[in-house]
Amino acid sequence: MNRFDAMAATWDDKPARIDRARRVADAIAERIPVRTSWSVVDLGSGTGLLSRMLADKVGHIVLVDTSEGMTAQASARIAADGLDMTAVCLDITEETPPGGPFDLAVSLLTLHHVPDVHDFLEEVCALLAPGGWVAIADLSSEDGTFHDDPTEDVQHHGFDPAHLAHVASSAGLVEVKVEEILHLEKLREGGPRSYGLLLLTGRAPVTVTAT
Ligand SMILES: C[S@@+](CC[C@H](N)C(=O)[O-])C[C@H]1O[C@@H](n2cnc3c(N)ncnc32)[C@H](O)[C@@H]1O
Repeated sequence: MNRFDAMAATWDDKPARIDRARRVADAIAERIPVRTSWSVVDLGSGTGLLSRMLADKVGHIVLVDTSEGMTAQASARIAADGLDMTAVCLDITEETPPGGPFDLAVSLLTLHHVPDVHDFLEEVCALLAPGGWVAIADLSSEDGTFHDDPTEDVQHHGFDPAHLAHVASSAGLVEVKVEEILHLEKLREGGPRSYGLLLLTGRAPVTVTAT
């Protein structure tokens, strides 16, 4: 059992998690011309909070997560609500999600768990249809206090926006933008703290072949 398995059953109980997923979905829909015909992949989907907030704006969504517990919660919710989604348990750094090419790849707070961001973004780019979109939300650079358990093993303490944009472009994405879209508030020793949430958007290139 990994630590996300242990949190899966109560993951959706925190209103702040639901609120941030709603606000990220709104930010995505404000920036990307989503359509109900689009196929979407949610990378590190957890219980599917972000996907559920996007469900009425897009077509079929494939939820992928390495946690069996999160995937089971997502599957139960999909079945209970009759959602047009499939939840698959796999490691996005090692396996290719089924159902591609996708019109849109989304992700919320998973990128800081990925060791090699450049390689990962190259793989995400390869999952997309030509001209397909990516929308990845994760923390702005932080001091390591974001997670409630300070010993939690993460790969990155957030990201510098300019550096993340550079890495995304070098991984092959075009029309890259990284914007701070909201702040996440947490209570820490010494008082309330605010952590920036970035949204990376970009597109897979459209290759034009000479005739
Ligand atoms: C902070 S949680 C966010 C979950 C969800 N996106 C949300 O906002 O509620 C990070 C999720 O990423 C998943 N994850 C981390 N590394 C992963 C990997 N290599 N492949 C697939 N999922 C991964 C974890 O299992 C966990 O469910």
